[in-house]
Amino acid sequence: MPLTRRQMLAGTGAASAAAAAVGTFGIPHFHLTAHAADDGFTELKIEKVPTVLMDGGKETELWLYNGVTPGPELRVKRHGEVKVRLINGLDEPTMLHWHGIRIDNAMDGSPLTQNPVPPGESFDYVFAVPDAGTYWYHPHLDSSRQVEHGLYGPLIVEEEEPLEDVEDITLVLDDWLINDDGTLNQEAFGDIRIAAHGGRLGNWFTVNGKSRPRLSAAAGKRLRLRLVNCSNARVMYPQIKGAIPVLVALDGQPIKTPRELGGEQLALGPGGRADLIIRRGSDELTLANVGQGEPLEVAYIERTGEAGEPDTGEIAALPDNGLAHPGSLEGIEVRELVMEGGAMGGLQGAKLRGRDVGMRELVENGFAWSFNGVAGMTEEPFASYKLGETAVIEFVNKTAWPHAMHLHGMHVLPVEVDGKPADQPAWRDTLLLDADQRIKVAFVADNPGKWMLHCHMLEHQEAGMMTWVDVEA
Ligand code: C2O
Ligand code: CU
Repeated sequence: MPLTRRQMLAGTGAASAAAAAVGTFGIPHFHLTAHAADDGFTELKIEKVPTVLMDGGKETELWLYNGVTPGPELRVKRHGEVKVRLINGLDEPTMLHWHGIRIDNAMDGSPLTQNPVPPGESFDYVFAVPDAGTYWYHPHLDSSRQVEHGLYGPLIVEEEEPLEDVEDITLVLDDWLINDDGTLNQEAFGDIRIAAHGGRLGNWFTVNGKSRPRLSAAAGKRLRLRLVNCSNARVMYPQIKGAIPVLVALDGQPIKTPRELGGEQLALGPGGRADLIIRRGSDELTLANVGQGEPLEVAYIERTGEAGEPDTGEIAALPDNGLAHPGSLEGIEVRELVMEGGAMGGLQGAKLRGRDVGMRELVENGFAWSFNGVAGMTEEPFASYKLGETAVIEFVNKTAWPHAMHLHGMHVLPVEVDGKPADQPAWRDTLLLDADQRIKVAFVADNPGKWMLHCHMLEHQEAGMMTWVDVEA
């Protein structure tokens, strides 16, 4: 029998005090994994856990927060405080990044904001959460390997007023690259050919750590599905069969006018999120990922109990988080970020650690991509802004590959796509660009600090697609 959230919470004992600040409790399909320290911190302890990832396959060593995949779902109310103690049980350094949250820069968990946490040591993250929505956490060091080993989990910031009669399920999507025997493929890590193509694309799809899980939800309630793409590099094209879902949020931020995803195909780059609301009803739901060929069915949600009256009422927009709107862009300097390189990209060379090097030397050093002619992290920021200044960036994808551009600490609003006004613009922290596409975005640089800006295809990031912006205090 699936446990209800209440039963889960009741069972956590000492943890429930901490749950008032941050609840690490599971919805039915999550393990109960709260570890609370006496000082009110929720502990996220990285453990190496031999795990059977593929049904019938061999055990493989995963690296997991509190021993579970995905890591515990952290829940906190909007304007609440997150207090998490990261305990590094790896043999290598790590750090924890909170993806998509408009966070205090010191707590961002990137190499620009903190030193790596050595093996056996811990780091305390304490921050307020200004925005309700669906976020996630993952390491920001050797990310391609650490995330692929299972280090990620959802961070859910609840609305101040809970949605009435809506069941809430987080679906964490991942594709792992495994060998025939079910063990995690190790050879592909650091492979420059993979990094120069689409990145580490997996062959074993999981939802909440399981292959094709069967979940259940009440037919008599609306259902909010929070989709999180935690894969290293795969662009996901989620599709729901059995109902027409209504899109209510992207990358955590509510969209202005919720819309039915009838014929419209949702696309989520790695790191991207979408919140969908599904009306009451008793038809079983199937989540599929559209790729080449037949859509791959990845999860099933059975709807139990009575659906009641037909659900024809409107689906209201979620309460706005009040992000500062950029306003008129007249006279504002557009800073171009030209993305080059990769297979079939014709890149001749780039600046690497301050030196001009040819393609061969780039590749020998593990690089295949550049931003504005520079491969890898830059000493100088790509752009510096005064606090509160309106920023306009045009991403120019001159490569033959899609990319998922992620800015830390702030969300951006697309204003132009290939020179035309953006259609139904929505705040994004992870913006998918097609091959050869250019997208102009605007935002108010209102969060002071040093913020990374990189491709969230983790192998692309590692192989050169990484820079940062500076917002002066
Ligand atoms: Cu989700 Cu810079 O990362
Ligand atoms: Cu990329």
